[in-house]
Amino acid sequence: MSSDLVWCRARHACVPGAELYQATYGTIVEKESGFSAIAGTAGPLSGLDAGGVRLLCLGDIVGRPGRSAVQERLPLLRASLALDFVIANGENAAGGIGLTPDSLDVLLRSGVDCVTSGNHIWRHREIRPLLDREARLLRPCNYSPATPGRGFGVYTLPGGLKLGVLNLLGRVFMDAVDCPFRAADAALARFEQEGVSHVVVDFHAEASSEKRAMAQYLDGRATLVFGTHTHVQTADARISALGTASITDIGMCGVEDDSVIGMGKEVILRRFVTGVPEAFKPARGQGSLNGVCVEADKKNAKALSIFILRDTPGAVADARLLCGGAACS
Ligand SMILES: [Fe+2]
Ligand SMILES: [Fe+2]
Repeated sequence: MSSDLVWCRARHACVPGAELYQATYGTIVEKESGFSAIAGTAGPLSGLDAGGVRLLCLGDIVGRPGRSAVQERLPLLRASLALDFVIANGENAAGGIGLTPDSLDVLLRSGVDCVTSGNHIWRHREIRPLLDREARLLRPCNYSPATPGRGFGVYTLPGGLKLGVLNLLGRVFMDAVDCPFRAADAALARFEQEGVSHVVVDFHAEASSEKRAMAQYLDGRATLVFGTHTHVQTADARISALGTASITDIGMCGVEDDSVIGMGKEVILRRFVTGVPEAFKPARGQGSLNGVCVEADKKNAKALSIFILRDTPGAVADARLLCGGAACS
């Protein structure tokens, strides 16, 4: 197989309109399933067929287009990928900023098992009582303990394994909050007490350096550390030698075309050009789904594979993936 880098056509559809790529962690080869798969340090080919725990994480859901994309397409993804658990970041689900009880309800009814959030969670006051009552809703863990809600949750997977989900907020270029690293240590100690086997972390942060640092900090202690908040998917998905999958940002669920990170481009452009504050509105159109699908070993909780989800109606028909190996021509 050639070691030359080649531009490869995106083509791995699992459901109509969906495209999944596995992180290029080794040599890409084709599998009969139609997915591309890699030979990682774990040894044999690992794809979405290893019989492990299968998780899907969706990035910031932006407004109605994001909610509709989740509502219309998640049930199909959930069934076709035989997912064990779905996490979605809902901090932009209501009108582009914040979360309301109604928008939360849409996500939960669509097949999301745990809704994480971020700096916009406080926007709509009516969500605050639900932060206390609804165990499937998380706010960042490193807010003051005096704030409503919880920053992590323990959920039982099919088969009885316990999954711990932790939501953290970054401090670089963000409002001041408690230390996310110490908050992670405290949450992981609680997970251990509660018999959690698999840990997934949504680190909602601006700076890629802070998010990469968190992935390193939790190396070997979490199955998956993924970033949210920037709304732009990054090309750095990986699995460490200790079995922690990570990616700096999984992207958003919302309108990508004719928008600026999911918001209507006209308002954003006026704000940049004039400097005059103006309320954002989500862009109109069909929303993309962006995220990752990770499969993890049931026994040792190590990540076996990480697939990048870019389900973008129409727009990525000619998207290309730069990877190694002639098999991807
Ligand atoms: Fe955010
Ligand atoms: Fe966001």
